[in-house]
Amino acid sequence: MDTDPTALVVVAHHRAGSLTAHIAGLIAKRLEAAGYRIDLMDLHGEGFDPNMTVADQPDWNDRDKVYSEETRAHMGRILAADVIVPVFPIYWQSVPAIMKGWIDRVWNYGFSYGRSKPRLAGKRMLWMGLAGAGADDPIVPVMKENMDRGLRDAISFYNGITEAAVEVLYDTEGEPQYVDEDGNFTKGEALVGAEREAHFAALENEAVEHVEKFLGLA
Ligand SMILES: Cc1cc2nc3c(=O)[nH]c(=O)nc-3n(C[C@H](O)[C@H](O)[C@H](O)COP(=O)(O)O)c2cc1C
Repeated sequence: MDTDPTALVVVAHHRAGSLTAHIAGLIAKRLEAAGYRIDLMDLHGEGFDPNMTVADQPDWNDRDKVYSEETRAHMGRILAADVIVPVFPIYWQSVPAIMKGWIDRVWNYGFSYGRSKPRLAGKRMLWMGLAGAGADDPIVPVMKENMDRGLRDAISFYNGITEAAVEVLYDTEGEPQYVDEDGNFTKGEALVGAEREAHFAALENEAVEHVEKFLGLA
């Protein structure tokens, strides 16, 4: 019997060749090297429908409601995971719509919350977001606070996962954009050449280091 722990790496990006997908691949590789069996869940690639349906709407009088087949399959993959790592581009200081819909439909009443003993207790979760903002952008503390509250507290903790963290990779366009104090949209200088390459190599390292820190390997 396979007794290796399982890591569910959930990717939310519409381009298979995106930086987000690339970083997710590196994270999966690091987890695999640490002894995890990998379940790579590419929400766009798998054609996941993020829209709530009647079949997946909670029945507050029935926590044993049988949800749709698609949702039940996703629930099975979450249950099989020891570690869950959503990897996503940060959109409006949160996850993209497809990942929000995945939470809405799958992290459902009676499954992940609404029971006296949380089924997902003991699992660990690392939210890995990619930000267009540079690390020194004044908006960053607010963005990080919003994500800590909205993802770690409102979703992981609410669903019984007490060991959860949000990490962010900054300036993932290599050209920071920001809104100045007068409300003007402004673009920083785009990195080019060797400097650009070094920047993206550093982001790759950071992603791996976040995983190592989360697993207690660093
Ligand atoms: C709809 C949308 C909303 C965005 N919102 C934010 C944001 O709130 N904060 C931020 O730092 N970057 C934001 N960005 C920038 C993306 O996070 C960035 O382009 C992405 O992480 C780059 O990764 P990718 O090349 O894999 O898409 C946003 C981009 C889009 C398209």
